[in-house]
Parts: sequence; C-alpha cells; structure tokens
Amino acid sequence: MENIHKIQQLINQEFDEMKNIGTFTGVYCHPFVEKNVFRYLNKNLVDKKGYSSMMEFERSIDTFMKKLYKHYDGKTITTSGSTESLLLAFYYAREQAKYERKITKPNIILPEHAHYSLFKCAQMLEIEIKHASNGINHTIDTKSVEALIDRNTIMIVGVMGSTELGVVDDLRALDVIAAQHNVYLHIDAAIGGFIFPFINTPTPHTFQQLPSLYSMNISGHKFGLALPGCGLLLLRHNKTLDQYAGHVSYLSTGISRIESLMITSSPIGVFSLAVNIKHFGLRGYRENAKEYIRAKENIKKRLEAMDISVFNGSLYTPQLFFYAEHLEELSNYLKNKGWMQNTYLAKGLEQEGIRIVIKYGQELLLENDLMNDIEDFYMTKTSSQHSAANESYEQPFQNVEEEF
Ligand SMILES: Cc1ncc(COP(=O)(O)O)c(C=O)c1O
Repeated sequence: MENIHKIQQLINQEFDEMKNIGTFTGVYCHPFVEKNVFRYLNKNLVDKKGYSSMMEFERSIDTFMKKLYKHYDGKTITTSGSTESLLLAFYYAREQAKYERKITKPNIILPEHAHYSLFKCAQMLEIEIKHASNGINHTIDTKSVEALIDRNTIMIVGVMGSTELGVVDDLRALDVIAAQHNVYLHIDAAIGGFIFPFINTPTPHTFQQLPSLYSMNISGHKFGLALPGCGLLLLRHNKTLDQYAGHVSYLSTGISRIESLMITSSPIGVFSLAVNIKHFGLRGYRENAKEYIRAKENIKKRLEAMDISVFNGSLYTPQLFFYAEHLEELSNYLKNKGWMQNTYLAKGLEQEGIRIVIKYGQELLLENDLMNDIEDFYMTKTSSQHSAANESYEQPFQNVEEEF
C-alpha cells in the first residue's frame, strides 16, 4: 500500500498535460473511449480477425483515409506511430526496388529538416542517406534533390509539416522530379496528415494529385486526436503487400498477413482513432483545423506586439517558434507557472527559441493564460530594468546628500 501511495505521489507531482506546449501528442480523450478503454487493454491488435469490433475499426479508418487521400487501389495500415510507418514504407520501397529494378545498394534523399526517425529508419534498413539542402524559407531545395539522384536512388521524401519549424516542402515539384527519374515519393505527414485534407490550401497531397506518391505516414496520436500508439501508413498499391508482407499461422484466428512490424500491439490507438473519426468526421476535423490556424494567428499577433520574433512556418501548420531576449529566464519563469516547454536551437534557423504547439482543446489556454504569463514576464523585466536605471540615476544625489 505504501509503495502504491508513492506511485500516486509521483503522478500527482507531474505537469498538467494541458500545459504541455512542446509536444504534438493530443490532450484529448473522447468520453466514450475513456469509458471503454479497459475492454481493449488486453486485446492484441494482430489477432483482429477474432474481434469483429477491431476489424470494423480498421475498415472504417481505411474508408475515411481513402476519402481524404484517394489511394483507392491501396491500403491504410495501422501501426504504433509514424516511426513504425516510416520503417515499413522504406522497407517496402527497398524490397520492391530490389525485385523490380535490381537495386542492391539503395539510397534515399531526405530533407535537412526531416525528423530524427527518418534518418534512423533508413540507417536501420541499410539504405544510404543523401542529404538535400534547404532552400527557400527553410523548405527542401528541389534543385539539390535533382542533383543528388543517381541510378541507386529509390525514394525521395517531402515533409507536410516539419517538426521544428512547421514548414511544408514543395510536394508538387518533388512529385515531378520523382516521375522524371522513376523513383518513389514518400510524404511524411505525421503532423499535417489530419489538417491539410480538411482545409483549402495550395498543397497537393492526394495520391491522385501526385502520381509518383508511393506512401505516406501519419501520426494518429497527433492531430487525429487518438491516444498514443496510433500511426498510419498509406500505400498506393495493395499488391505491394501481396508481394512483400509476411504471414504467421499460429494465432488463434489462423493465418494472418502481417503488414505492420509489431506483432503484439495495443489496439487502443486504433480504437480511439476510429471513435474520433465517427465523432468528428470531415466537418469536425475541418472545424478543428480552422481553430488551430485562427489561434496560431492570434498568438503570433500577441507575441509580435511584445516585440518577440516569430517564425511562423507554413500558415497551416499548428505551431510556431519564437525567440526573444532573456529566453532562458523566460523558460524558467514559464516552468514555474506550470508550462512544460524547453528552449532549443532550431535546425536551419540557427536560433535558440521556444516552440508552441497548438492542440485541440488547448487553444484558449494558450491564447489567454500563456500569452498573459509571457506578457507579465516581460513587464516585470522592463519595470525591474527601469528601477535599476532609476537607481543608478538617483545614486549621485544620494552621494551628494551623504557628502553634506
Ligand atoms: C515530422 C515528424 N515525423 C515523424 C515523427 C515520428 O512520429 P511518431 O512519434 O508518431 O513515431 C514525428 C514525431 O514527432 C514528426 O514530428
């Protein structure tokens, strides 16, 4: 009992997740999910054939994603997160290129701003990494991509919402380059996957708009608002799986095709995403996306009114990065006020700053409480500087008085 009490104390000491402004993982849980989550705790997603509800969740996710991304001849594979989806995408591309194009020493072209997981996955699969440089506004320089392609290049990657700066690569240009050189295009839509299809943006993102698009990863536990442990891999062709997925036969439900990497894995991510898709639907996710963009504009205005520099990234990504004087002190001040965040050196911008991620249900808290706290910090700072200046101004008089 004593030990359990200690665990409770640990939990109580933790930051409030509503005040975590540095992560993309959702803070939302649908009440229906909360009520039923226990029923899914000990089911194994790989055994889905035995559970009709799990089959239905995956089917409804696939149908919804096909409406958004139009990979009608393909498949939406549920995974534990974008990292697993990326590993699978690179693996399927590597196997297909080996079989069809006899490429045995494959390479992949990644943007400088790609997330850590992309580099790690390519490295684990022994795919050589070629680094494309950044061009306009910190997005991938498409000329450098063209210059890097050689006969062993299997894939180029564009990002729809980068982690640190929230930029979006020129996906149309990457698709054209991929077509000209007969290589696959992959989009990392971990962040933008549940935002871009719901709003009017000039960014093409469907398999119909981008003929070279081979695969795309999305984190369901980011703006899909699923509980952690939910990723998606969208593949253009089902036949990729027919050829390169594996099978196991020992499960209670007989032979199962294994499209993901994990064998035993939690169905909670899939369950919560399926519930959210039913609950929000196209219209709900659109409203959410519009709300992130509105809140972002407002936060940007308030920061700029305090003379703080803001890097906005794409208009449509739900985050911004700011930098200002006394940053370390500000970060500590915000920690004391219960805000979970950190300063870091943004790759590409070479500026130390703080990222604010705008998530569902957190918008007003960020627009009001966080902005007020930042404003208070700088007001205290200015007034203490004023009083310090006044003190040094008053000093001579004091000295004069003392002399008398
Ligand atoms: C752009 C991007 N790609 C991939 C990932 C990896 O995603 P996950 O944490 O779902 O594995 C992240 C994580 O934040 C990300 O920001």
